[in-house]
Order: sequence, then structure tokens, then C-alpha cells
Amino acid sequence: QTLDVIVVGSCMTDLVSQAPRLPKAGETIHGHKFFIGFGGKGANQCVQAARLGADSAMVCMVGKDFFGDNYIQNFKDGGVCTDFVKQTSAAATGTASITLNDAGENAIVIVAGANLLLDSEDLKDVQPTLNRAKVLVCQLEINPQTSLTALRMAQQCGVKTIFNPAPAIPLMDQEFYTVSDVFCCNESEAELLTGRPVSSVEEARDAGQNLKARGCGAVIVTLGPKGCVVLRGEGSKHIPTAAVSAMDTTGAGDSFIGALAFYMARYPTMPLEEMATRANHVAAVSVQTLGAQTSYPFKKDLPAALF
Ligand code: RIB
Ligand code: NA
Repeated sequence: QTLDVIVVGSCMTDLVSQAPRLPKAGETIHGHKFFIGFGGKGANQCVQAARLGADSAMVCMVGKDFFGDNYIQNFKDGGVCTDFVKQTSAAATGTASITLNDAGENAIVIVAGANLLLDSEDLKDVQPTLNRAKVLVCQLEINPQTSLTALRMAQQCGVKTIFNPAPAIPLMDQEFYTVSDVFCCNESEAELLTGRPVSSVEEARDAGQNLKARGCGAVIVTLGPKGCVVLRGEGSKHIPTAAVSAMDTTGAGDSFIGALAFYMARYPTMPLEEMATRANHVAAVSVQTLGAQTSYPFKKDLPAALF
């Protein structure tokens, strides 16, 4: 069987508190709502790709606990292949404690737990399936060496790679750039990796050029309501996105990347700029409702022109 998208990455149970604003250090404030959701950047990206119609598989580690069992069921319900989802009793399923303010902004603390126990050995079983896949996606919520091994394996067998350096780490192995067909990060990750401020389109273009020169095939810097900048070949293009009112931006970047993976797998000859335009649209839908995966659109909810 041929898969469109394989994600080697994280699963987190999102523990979300909504409050008027984010608390300061040492401060206690009243929130007005609490909910639990399925999150983690890897799983979010995988689930969004699947909702658009990609045949997707998740490679990850969860705990042998309630949250882990629940997460596996979530993948099954979403039609995501769980052949490579492992459970460990050595650590708990990852959690993300999220505070969400009234402006739809968030602050997140992740405790990766079981995610950090997925190692390069676990990837051996994936090789035969990877050989027949179209796109591999990795992030940085698992052991970075595991992500790097997966990206290398994909590159060696001619599978397109998307790398999302999130959350960004300061001393990232330079090989991450050369194993990325598409290196996709947001403003704050671009800032951390380049050491320059990134808030405007022009700054994103400069940062993107700097990152691309490190050896990536192409770079996309996402800019929230300002859309994204796509850099490939010698060129760069700003792709704006439609204005929407944001209720919860948690996981919007993952929705974008999941959509990008779907387009790369299913429409391999489509220009990257067009894929980014369509992925902007998908992510813009996700910010208009609460939660990460709960807000991700299905193919049936989207205009036919996106397919
Ligand atoms: O990118 C959003 C995700 O980051 C959340 O779902 C949370 O789990 C954190 O990992
Ligand atoms: Na959302």
C-alpha cells in the first residue's frame, strides 16, 4: 500500500485554559473555560493532511496510559494509520498546558514525556512503508536525532521532506537544512534561527534567504495574519491571506503544514506558491474555532477550488 504522508513526530494532550489574558510570573488569575483536546505538532499536521484526503500514517510514542489509549483511538477515528504508533510504560503521554487569551493568542508549556523515547531504532520498521510514501514531515517536539534520522532516510529513498523546526532550538544541527526539501517555520522560529528580528514581510524575506542559503530546497516563513513568504530558486514571493477574526490560533501553523503535505503528496507538480496560497486558506479556517484538531477543516467543508 502506498501512503501519501508519513509524519514522524509528537502527540500531546492539550490542557487548555481560557483566560482574559496570559498570567504574569508569580500571578494567579481566573480563567473562564477549560477543555482537553488532541494536540502535538506532529499529530496535528498528520490529522490535517488526513482530513483533506491524504492517506496518512503517524510514527510516534505515547504512554501506556489513559491519554495514550485515547490518542490512538483518535487516530483510528480520523483514518490515520497507527501501525507505527508505539506505547511505553517508561513515560507519560506528552502534555501541553495552554493558556489562551481573549485575543486568541496563547502561551504553551509542553512536557514531551513519551515523545522523547521515540528513537532511531523505532524507525527501522518504517523503512519499507517510507520507500513507497510521497512526503515525510518532521518537527522538534521529539528527540531531534530521531527527526534527523527520519529526514535522512526519506531523502535517501527520494521521498519529499517537510521540516518544521518547532519549537525552535538554538543549536540546531546544520544537517536539518540540507535534508529539508521544504523548511517551514514561523516568525519566532526564524528569529531564533537567524538571530535577527522577523515581524515584517521584508524581514521574513531576509531571514528566509538566510535560512535557504544553509542548504534547504525551499523555505516558507509563515506570518500569521500576514500570510507567508515562499522562497525557492532565486525568487521569493509574499503570499497574503484573507483577513479573518481569530478565536484560537493554537495549531494554525500545523494546519498549514498538514495542508502543505497534502498538496505536495497529491499535486506534486503544483507550484509551491500555489500550495502555500491554498494552505493559507485551510489554516485561516482553523483559527476561527476553538482548539487545534477540533478546528481543522475536512475536505467537504472547503471550497472545491482548493482541490
Ligand atoms: O502547534 C500547536 C501545538 O503545540 C499544540 O497542539 C500543543 O500540543 C503544542 O505542542
Ligand atoms: Na483553532
